[in-house]
Amino acid sequence: MSLPVFVIRADVSDQNPNLQIEAAQKAFATDFDRFSSFRETVPPGSISLSQAEQLSRELAELRTRHVGKKSALAACKKLIGRVQPEQRAAFGQLVQQAEGGIVQALDEVVGSLKSFVESARIARESIDVTMPGRRARAGHLHPITLMRQRIEDIFVSLGYAVEDDREIETDFYNFDALNIPEGHPARDEQDTFYTTEGFALRSQTSTVQIHAMQRRGAPVRMIAPGRVFRRDTPDPTHNPMFFQVEGLCVDRGITMAHLKGTLQEFVHRLFGPGTKTRFRPSYFPFTEPSAEVDYSCFNCGGSGCRICKWGGWIELGGSGMVHPNVLRAAGVNAEEFTGFAFGLGIDRTCARIYELDDIRLLFENDVRFLEQFR
Ligand code: FA5
Repeated sequence: MSLPVFVIRADVSDQNPNLQIEAAQKAFATDFDRFSSFRETVPPGSISLSQAEQLSRELAELRTRHVGKKSALAACKKLIGRVQPEQRAAFGQLVQQAEGGIVQALDEVVGSLKSFVESARIARESIDVTMPGRRARAGHLHPITLMRQRIEDIFVSLGYAVEDDREIETDFYNFDALNIPEGHPARDEQDTFYTTEGFALRSQTSTVQIHAMQRRGAPVRMIAPGRVFRRDTPDPTHNPMFFQVEGLCVDRGITMAHLKGTLQEFVHRLFGPGTKTRFRPSYFPFTEPSAEVDYSCFNCGGSGCRICKWGGWIELGGSGMVHPNVLRAAGVNAEEFTGFAFGLGIDRTCARIYELDDIRLLFENDVRFLEQFR
């Protein structure tokens, strides 16, 4: 049906109202084109939730642009009063129809976007209560830490304090004060790690003997568990970084008998009351006399098995009576006080207790291995 030609009163304007309405409708049709496929519905999966939210915002802008106060259609409305009086009603109707068509198209898309957004939000936020839950994996202590704590508990119950000290040392604490003379092989760069500034990574926890005596004076009874470093090639019983626990007891009248009794008590508590100790003469620059300490195998009781490598005895560590030079270097009166000291390897003891063939397993950080020590 062809439109009647509306005519503006000649005294008002020479604008062509028909063309204006057509132009407004055309402009809307162009802008609306990309939304028109959503008039009935937004098919699930055709756009994402955030795209739908963005389209809704753009649609609101489209409404302002095409039916808002400053739109071309609003300008057409203003013309209603200006067309010839006999054509006014028909023209008004035409403008209304044009506006109605635009508003309806917009409303339809708004509606389908709204229901799409609603159902997408529900889908996103809904929880499937039948899904199995994710169990939080609790951590646990490393076997070396467990071993260290067992050792600490025993010595604390015997009246020993637990000391913690530095891992990087000067030559004084690492060697001089421990009566390790210049030229001793332990000072060699082949045995000790040095920092570029010439500090040594402590090669034994015996360095803490000096710090403890300087700090506490005598009498003193302490153990010092900690990390030590040696240029040892890794193998089943060696690592370049491992843990020791140092023990020191200085008082008036301390003898070798106290040392033997203390370590005997320690192995009883750690491995069982039937465990025996054995002291073999040895040499350490910082103790005189010195002894290596062994304990009878906790598995076979000394008859020989896989754990003790068929020897019946297992090495615990080194020990001896504190050398007077060490007491003096730490500021303790060597005429008045005597003492004993010992140094045990935590890693190897841990490996024995947990029946590990290789201490390197302890530092590989393989969770499948470590999980066994919960
Ligand atoms: C010492 O380190 C002395 N400071 C012990 C001591 C202290 C003697 C106080 C007298 C008085 P030794 O080098 O033997 O001693 O080491 C003690 C223990 O450390 C050994 O029995 C062993 O269990 C452990 N150990 C030594 N080297 C390694 C290594 N590369 N990897 C793992 N454990 C080691």
